[in-house]
Amino acid sequence: MRLVHFVIASAFAAAVMSPAPSSAGPQEGRKAWLKLNCYGCHGNNGGGGMGPNVRNKEAGDVSEAMNGGEREGGMRSYAGLSIVGPNEATDIAAYLATIGKSTEPTWVDWWNH
Ligand code: HEC
Repeated sequence: MRLVHFVIASAFAAAVMSPAPSSAGPQEGRKAWLKLNCYGCHGNNGGGGMGPNVRNKEAGDVSEAMNGGEREGGMRSYAGLSIVGPNEATDIAAYLATIGKSTEPTWVDWWNH
């Protein structure tokens, strides 16, 4: 009986501790957002700065902005850069979708670990 409880508790803990893929994106997206210096132009919280407000931009828009050529406004192209991971546009969009929401997580950034 004890063993059964242990197994059930472990399964529950695993489910809580490893977020579903859909919620794994924002933390990674925030990391990419900081790593790739997006915040330098779009503001720490994506609310705009030298670049426009990009909160709630969808993955397609983020990918297009990152992979487009040099633009008049000054955003560089990130196409072909080895520091850009394959899922980063999607993850960044997931992060941008959380900003300013009441459900926005309290971020624990890697330098705070
Ligand atoms: C050097 C400053 C700069 C950096 C760094 C930068 N951007 Fe931009 N971004 C801009 C500007 C300026 C625009 C407006 C388009 C242009 O370049 O004229 C823009 C446009 C965009 C748009 C489209 C906004 C719209 O209204 O359609 C998205 C999305 C975006 N950026 C995301 C990002 C992401 C994600 C990163 C990091 C990978 C990033 N940007 C890094 C300056 C920057």
